This record gives sequence, C-alpha cells and structure tokens, in this order.
Amino acid sequence: MTGDHVLRNRVAWNAYAEEFRDPGHRAWSSDEPTWGIWGIPEAGVGMLEGVDGNDAIELGCGTAYVSAWLARRGARPVGIDNSPKQLESARGFQAEFDLRFPLVHGDAEHTPFPDAQFDLAISEYGAAIWCDPYVWIPEAARLLRPGGRLVYLSHSPLTMLCSPLDDEVVPIEDRLIRDQFGMHRFDWSDATEFQVSHGETIRLLHDCGFEIEDLLELQPAEGSTTNADWITLEWARRWPCEDVWKARKRP
Ligand SMILES: C[S@@+](CC[C@H](N)C(=O)[O-])C[C@H]1O[C@@H](n2cnc3c(N)ncnc32)[C@H](O)[C@@H]1O
Repeated sequence: MTGDHVLRNRVAWNAYAEEFRDPGHRAWSSDEPTWGIWGIPEAGVGMLEGVDGNDAIELGCGTAYVSAWLARRGARPVGIDNSPKQLESARGFQAEFDLRFPLVHGDAEHTPFPDAQFDLAISEYGAAIWCDPYVWIPEAARLLRPGGRLVYLSHSPLTMLCSPLDDEVVPIEDRLIRDQFGMHRFDWSDATEFQVSHGETIRLLHDCGFEIEDLLELQPAEGSTTNADWITLEWARRWPCEDVWKARKRP
C-alpha cells in the first residue's frame, strides 16, 4: 500500500524541481563524480566501483545524474522517481547529453520490476531518505540478484538527532535534541523524511538478506563548501553528517 508520505513528497519534489535543475546539469556535465552536499570526490567514497556491465536501478533518481555516471562507466541503468517534474529535467538532460536509459515514474517502495532483475541498487538522497527503510530496503533486496549490491548515501542519524524541532530553524545544533529511541519518520513542514539508528539499519539489512560490506561516515575536506543551509562546515568536520552504506545480497 502506498504511504501518505509518497504523495506528500511528490508534491514537494515537483515544487523543488526547478531549483534542482542547475545542480543536476552541473552533475550531468561532470566526468568526475562527487557525492553528497559537500561534493566529496568518488575516489574517497567508491559508490561507482565495479559497476561496469551491471544492470543498475537508481531508486529516487531525480535528475538522474548518478544514472548518467553509471552509464558512462559501462552499466545499464534504469532510473525510477516519484516526481514527474524531476523526470522531466532528467529527460531534458538525456536529450542534451545524448545519453538515454529508461526513466520510470513510480514509487521506489513498490516498483514495477520483476524479482532479481539488477546487480546494483543505488541511491543518493533518493529512496535513501525519502522512503521508509522498512519498505524500500526489502524492495531493493527483491530487485537484486544474489550477490548484487545495495549502495546508498543518506543523512547520518546524528544529523537528525541534532535537528531543531522547528524545521524552519537552521543550521543543526551541536547537541542532541531529538530522541534516538523510536527515531523513524520526520514530518517536516513540506515533506517527509526517514532515518533509523545504525543498529536498526544493521538488523534490517541482515534480515533482508544482505551482508554489510562498509559504512562510510563522510567527512568533508577543510575548506569545503555547500549550498545546504542546514549545516556548517565546522559541524561536519567534527561529526559525520552523511553516511554511505554498502551491502551485498547473500548468494
Ligand atoms: C535529492 S533527489 C535525489 C537525486 C539526486 N541524487 C540528488 O541528490 O539531487 C530526491 C529524489 O527522490 C525522489 N523521491 C522521493 N520519494 C520517492 C519515492 N517514494 N520513490 C521514488 N522517488 C522518490 C524525489 O522525487 C526526488 O527526485
């Protein structure tokens, strides 16, 4: 069953789409992938390692620059996204850069694809934060072949725990504001986001048939800049504001 957050987030992302066009265009134009809000180079993150020849699904692809990077590295990506406006931008970039792959309008929690169709499921701030982990991670497991990989980047639990209760107030603080026990769904004024603790994620991945290969807690380099207004470099240099999970479906 489709959760109410899916419709809420569709309305929100249709509204954000315009603002994400330019960053999307820059990312499509770049041959040197960088990740997350601080633009951390692929060399230190490795989300695109070993993708040559992979059938890949990008869950919550937005403007689909991650899928473009995958295609340029020899993968066969498919992008799925909940926002028709974001997909419109993605289709425009496909035409401009003459690089085409399937783009599907749909919900990453309940995709229309058969079981065991992909070698890689990937998300950067897509399903990774906007979908319920107890729904989208089992769905990713269903889509992957035995030995297939799930790689995703999200906010860290610590980021959420330090987020002010009034979501108009930024940046996040250097103290714990929210409870970790019970942490799951965050209803912001305009959209709904999800985050669970590291322990919950470990158990969930295990229960869905994954072996965890890595958890990277990203630290931006000194002097890094971001367009995000909810975080300072000082904070992100002291504590991890973004996580990358890498897991492999047990054969
Ligand atoms: C921040 S973008 C991610 C794309 C890109 N990596 C980026 O960082 O700009 C978030 C995307 O997740 C999509 N999204 C949110 N909920 C979704 C869902 N239930 N199924 C598929 N996509 C979803 C939004 O429509 C939006 O395009």
